[in-house]
Amino acid sequence: MIESLAAEEFERRFGGKPEVIAVAPGRANLIGEHTDYNDGYVFPVAIDRGVAVAIRLADKKTNLFSLQAGEADEMELPPDRKYKHLDWGVYPAGVAWTLAKRWGVEYFNIDGVVCSDLPIGSGLSSSAALEVAFAAAWAKLYKVELEPVDLAEIGQMAENQYVGVNCGIMDQLASASGKADSAMFIDIRSLEVRYVTMPSHFRIVICDTMVPRRLKNSAYNKRRQECESAAQTLGMTTLRDATLDDLLAKQDSFEPIPFKRAMHVVTENNRCQSFFWALADGNELRIGMLMRASHESLKEDFEVTSKELDAMAESCWTAPGCIGARMTGAGFGGSCVALVRKDSVDLFTRSVSNRYQAKTGIEPTFLICKPADGVRAFRPT
Ligand code: GLA
Repeated sequence: MIESLAAEEFERRFGGKPEVIAVAPGRANLIGEHTDYNDGYVFPVAIDRGVAVAIRLADKKTNLFSLQAGEADEMELPPDRKYKHLDWGVYPAGVAWTLAKRWGVEYFNIDGVVCSDLPIGSGLSSSAALEVAFAAAWAKLYKVELEPVDLAEIGQMAENQYVGVNCGIMDQLASASGKADSAMFIDIRSLEVRYVTMPSHFRIVICDTMVPRRLKNSAYNKRRQECESAAQTLGMTTLRDATLDDLLAKQDSFEPIPFKRAMHVVTENNRCQSFFWALADGNELRIGMLMRASHESLKEDFEVTSKELDAMAESCWTAPGCIGARMTGAGFGGSCVALVRKDSVDLFTRSVSNRYQAKTGIEPTFLICKPADGVRAFRPT
């Protein structure tokens, strides 16, 4: 258990117990990709892998240590300049900065240990889980009551304004509001979350291409700008309000690239809404068709897949037990998510592994996950 590992390491390193432990899950997005920053619909599921942080108030400096990165660091918080030393240190620093700036929370230094069983760079939102875990831990330490949506907003603001990635709110919201056994249909405009129970014979299989994301931040921010420019061409504030008819009626006013981007967003929002009933009814055929159409649209119109992601998705579609599969997360590398019948998981992974290796020469890895609860923070006894 990551929380006990974090607590044990905390005692070894700092002596005594942590005051607060927080555990935040990663997420897989089942459908609704690159729609959140267009005010649309998303369908993530929090998974039973995540990040634990164990913290305690400290006197003069903040000392953080990660069991996975194996590095320790000191920082002055809240930071007035962007923290640059460790890759992962920028996330807790950003959360501290946001708490001070947006919530007026007076900052106290901490000793902290981080432990994670989420792979990094695989598209499972390890950074959002880290942000949400720190936000929840600090809130508990200060005895500030925050709703899941507040924690998500803190994480997103840290990412947007401190880390410098212009992401939407899906990852942080999924990590903060997950529910065991359920996926979440989220309307990003209202932030309303509707839980849909996953059929008990479904397993979530994360199929990692083992090729980490490339050029993620710049390409991601560029896609976002292209969507904004497409909305402007339509005379709308966001693509959420566009229909296929609106788009086709104005096709001539568009440059080809923003048109393709808008085409993806509009059709993906439709697919995401259809997925609600497909999943609620356990309609496997429809789930499969929608996930596949989503991947193809991300490949052709949004252009965020990679040759490995395409090879992985194709390997999944015809594998035994596969209900549906597509790339998940921002793209440009990372993983595919597949919904697989429980009793065929072994056959599925063996078959996908062979096919993917034959296509790419790379050996993939798989994580078999279940839907999990969102972040929790507690004072260990
Ligand atoms: C990343 C971002 C999310 C979302 C996805 C694409 O994971 O953090 O906000 O935009 O990409 O759907």
